[in-house]
Amino acid sequence: MKVFITKKIPQAGIDTLKEAGFEISVHDESDKLSQQELIKACQDVDLLLNVGQGKLDSTFFSACSHLKGIALTSVGYDHVNLDAATKAGVPVSNTPDVLSDATADIAFLLMLAVSRKAFFRANQVLNGAWADFEFTKDLGIELYGKTLGIFGLGRIGLSLARKAQAAYGMNIIYHNRSRNTEAEKLVEATYVNFDTLLKESDVLSVHTNLTPETQHRFNAQAFQRMKDSAIFINTARGKIHHEMDLTEALRTGEIWGAGLDVTDPEPMQADNPLLKMSSVCVFPHIGSATIETRTQMAILASNNLIAVLKGNKMPQVVNA
Ligand code: DGY
Repeated sequence: MKVFITKKIPQAGIDTLKEAGFEISVHDESDKLSQQELIKACQDVDLLLNVGQGKLDSTFFSACSHLKGIALTSVGYDHVNLDAATKAGVPVSNTPDVLSDATADIAFLLMLAVSRKAFFRANQVLNGAWADFEFTKDLGIELYGKTLGIFGLGRIGLSLARKAQAAYGMNIIYHNRSRNTEAEKLVEATYVNFDTLLKESDVLSVHTNLTPETQHRFNAQAFQRMKDSAIFINTARGKIHHEMDLTEALRTGEIWGAGLDVTDPEPMQADNPLLKMSSVCVFPHIGSATIETRTQMAILASNNLIAVLKGNKMPQVVNA
């Protein structure tokens, strides 16, 4: 079987596919693939390994219904029209679990960096603005014993909760569509309604999928209900918060700080007002960007394609 890979992946993924006997072609990532080019490249292959967030919409699936499977290299699949995939009879798989700790590390890093204005402070040094020792200016806030609110206590949220509890003895509250009783036991998390999550969190971290229900859930009304000392963290999807409302909430002091690994749109433009704020840190969507995690993701995606080769169901299929 032939596989088309949309961007370079770690060698371990290529080796896994080659050992299984696949014929592979990898797109040169310096040249951005348009939808037409992707559709063209898929015409004479059986399988697609879709790296990154390139959209797979109904146009794609009507042109590529011959594909026997698509392996994504992400846990999120909001960039894929799953109804169209199912209608076309194309199974799609994702890469859950293997990126949970790495993504939670980025949430933890943002939480700490925002709380101590780390990037603003580092930039002062970089820009030659390291002033005399000032006792009361631009102070951070501490995390010890504070309340961490998690919106979406799944694998990534749980990993963050464990770190926050071990490092800072944080009290964990969470809001999900349904209760996660196993996680409640592991981190002594308390289930609360959305309003309580907003009102009681000192740090509120988002770990949910982007769906019509979660889109812009963190908007002006939500930020108004949060503590003025609160830090908002989003490492899930940029559309879950409303960026203009977030900017305004920070500007007016409705909340204290924000750490984002995801924005809407991506990439964020360098002149974005959020980047000028002292208690804001923004990363370029690097939750899973470690050698170990990206290697595991490539192997997992490859194994899903191997399952198709063997006539089996993809283990991580999301449109079963
Ligand atoms: C994921 O796996 O969903 C990450 O956000 C990368 O897209």
